[in-house]
Amino acid sequence: MLNFAINLAHQAGELLRQGHARGVDTIITKQSAVDLVTEVDLASDKLIGESLRDRFPDHAILTEESSGDLPEQGSVWVVDPLDGTTNFAHGYPVFSVTLALLVDREIELGVVYDPLRDETFWAQRGQGAWRNGSRMQVSTTLELGRSLLATGFAYDRASNPDNNLAEFSHFMPKTRGVRRAGSAALELAFTAAGWLDGYWEKGLHVWDTAAGVLMVREAGGIATTYAGRPWQPGDRNVVVSNGVLHEALLAGLRHARLDLPELG
Ligand code: IPD
Ligand code: CA
Ligand code: CA
Repeated sequence: MLNFAINLAHQAGELLRQGHARGVDTIITKQSAVDLVTEVDLASDKLIGESLRDRFPDHAILTEESSGDLPEQGSVWVVDPLDGTTNFAHGYPVFSVTLALLVDREIELGVVYDPLRDETFWAQRGQGAWRNGSRMQVSTTLELGRSLLATGFAYDRASNPDNNLAEFSHFMPKTRGVRRAGSAALELAFTAAGWLDGYWEKGLHVWDTAAGVLMVREAGGIATTYAGRPWQPGDRNVVVSNGVLHEALLAGLRHARLDLPELG
């Protein structure tokens, strides 16, 4: 199953790579001028959906472009056929394809593929996290002041006052930097690889997070909600870290969010 998933991510990644090489694609806006979908999102979604349905007719499939609810039980593939659509639509060379298999809501395996760097990140429950042929391990950074973090901003940021700017302002001066790569799946994989020491974001969906959360855990890190409870499929906010910095991240988020609603 893992090999099938990796292979599928590579096939979809090839579509993304070709689309990027062709140049700016037709952009269709979803709910607002900033929430985009391109023809390549849809082509990648179709390719992955059809292959999974063919190979695993009994499994459920939840993809960003087909949507639906996450079933409580059974085998479910969660798929983001192009994570980083805004980057992709502008030609900015940072995006990925990601898929994960959940069984009874437990993440069994996850793949994140970066087609432009040809880097494959994957994890299988109990088998570690891997980048190409090498085992991944989270960073050993001990202090926030020496950390490199990442975050992201949801599409409703113009209308929702709970838009992550307070959190971003809190951490930016206290760290070596806070990146906003524009692909949640890659930022999670980069934390597993030890290139980032931590990452937080709210408003995400299970297809953005499941593969990367498994990678972080299998690489020795921690994944929780903002409230500090272990992250589970269905949770819309996530904090991941190398473990050492987790409490500092949670405390920083609490502090920055004092005037904002509690998040589970
Ligand atoms: C988005 C990206 C982005 C994150 C957004 C996501 P999409 O996914 O992961 O980094 O900040 O919250 O929705 O729309 O490019 O698949
Ligand atoms: Ca996404
Ligand atoms: Ca997407």
